[in-house]
Amino acid sequence: MSTIQIKTEIPGPRSRALMARREAAIPRGPSNATPIFAASAEGATITDVDGNRYLDFAGGIGVLNAGHRAPRVTAAILEQLEKHLHLCFAVTPYEGYVAVAEKLNALAPGNFAKKTILINSGAEAIENAIKIARAYTKRPAVICFEDAFHGRTLLTMSLTSKTHPYKAGFQPFASDIYRIPYAYPYRHAAGTSAEDFAHHLEDAFKRSVAPESVAAIIAEPVLGEGGFVVPPREYFKLLQSICRKHGILFIADEIQSGFGRTGKWFACEHFGVEPDLIASAKSMGGGMPIAAVTGRAEIMDAPGPGSLGGTYCGHPLSCAAALAAIETIQKENLFARSSAIGERFEKRARGWQKKWSLVGEVRGLGGMCAMELVRNSETREPADTETKQIAKYCYEHGLILITAGTFNNVIRILVPLVVTDAQFDEGLDVLEAALAGVGEGKQVALSHA
Ligand SMILES: Cc1ncc(COP(=O)(O)O)c(C=O)c1O
Repeated sequence: MSTIQIKTEIPGPRSRALMARREAAIPRGPSNATPIFAASAEGATITDVDGNRYLDFAGGIGVLNAGHRAPRVTAAILEQLEKHLHLCFAVTPYEGYVAVAEKLNALAPGNFAKKTILINSGAEAIENAIKIARAYTKRPAVICFEDAFHGRTLLTMSLTSKTHPYKAGFQPFASDIYRIPYAYPYRHAAGTSAEDFAHHLEDAFKRSVAPESVAAIIAEPVLGEGGFVVPPREYFKLLQSICRKHGILFIADEIQSGFGRTGKWFACEHFGVEPDLIASAKSMGGGMPIAAVTGRAEIMDAPGPGSLGGTYCGHPLSCAAALAAIETIQKENLFARSSAIGERFEKRARGWQKKWSLVGEVRGLGGMCAMELVRNSETREPADTETKQIAKYCYEHGLILITAGTFNNVIRILVPLVVTDAQFDEGLDVLEAALAGVGEGKQVALSHA
């Protein structure tokens, strides 16, 4: 029996009524990728307020690697509810915070002493990572990347690359931020090597900022909002060795790519690098808000007592959920599942690429997989309108998925890793039908097939 069950027009009457209330009560700023209001969710499915059931390939933007309402996570939250709720770690500490920190120190790559702080969101993790790097190095500047996304607060928006909708109208930005191109092979000349990409950093030391002024370089090991771009395997090692030469810290933003998404705890492990600081969030909490900065102990200890933290940081319910989400990823073998999902997607998507020139590139790392859509395979003109049409077709036919990319032309897969093969195939069938609708005008010429 199919998982998707659509019983009303989409959006249904109850969703439409809620949307009218939402529009009256809530400004445009926090946007919605779909007009569907959720009533409940389980595993890899969401049921809306009109009784329609969808497959969820978005996972709340990469938060639900362990699945909606993972049983261990809900049980841990219920158990914690019986003990205490808010205390504030800065006032009366509790074991959950310590246990999560110990866990992350053990999971993060690198055979050296580590420490961890907990905060509430991805943006807060990045803010704190930069504060810590500046406190340790006593240097002001930060180098970030084109096509990066690090959040919506003043500092993280300043580090983010995409102008609309994230930056336009919100100037002035935080100062002492310098940007270099990311290793994005599909949008650079064929044959550009990892060395060529890494050379942009050396270049920046001449053109933009002296290396002795730079506290840190911050990179997503696989771009998230930027379109699931996977750099060449040697890239981060090269960057890190340049950083080491100049006493610059390497910060990995693993907020979207971490916690099993790519088939390992952290995507940077695929590249053989041990970051000085790692920012985590999203799937770390199994659906509860929690984030972390983990790093070398001597770096993490640079800021003085009271300089880091916040009222709700490392909330007891979120700590309980995080420990249970980590256990779920381990016990349910979700690393292997991530790799299997990546392979299954790639097989189908390569078939689509042969058929429709709309599919410009198929790429990914394990279950963090995507397709970049183009109007013309020679010019690689981004197919942004078509990408939007595909996402709309999908939710109207029972598949919730989201787009990405600086040019809004990437379909990304962030399906909960607990999805079954049958469910995943059912979702891919919807995506295929959507591509067929849009891709018919863009058939690959037989000579290229
Ligand atoms: C790579 C990356 N960094 C930072 C953030 C910001 O996280 P949050 O939305 O929790 O502030 C995100 C969110 O999508 C992200 O994907």
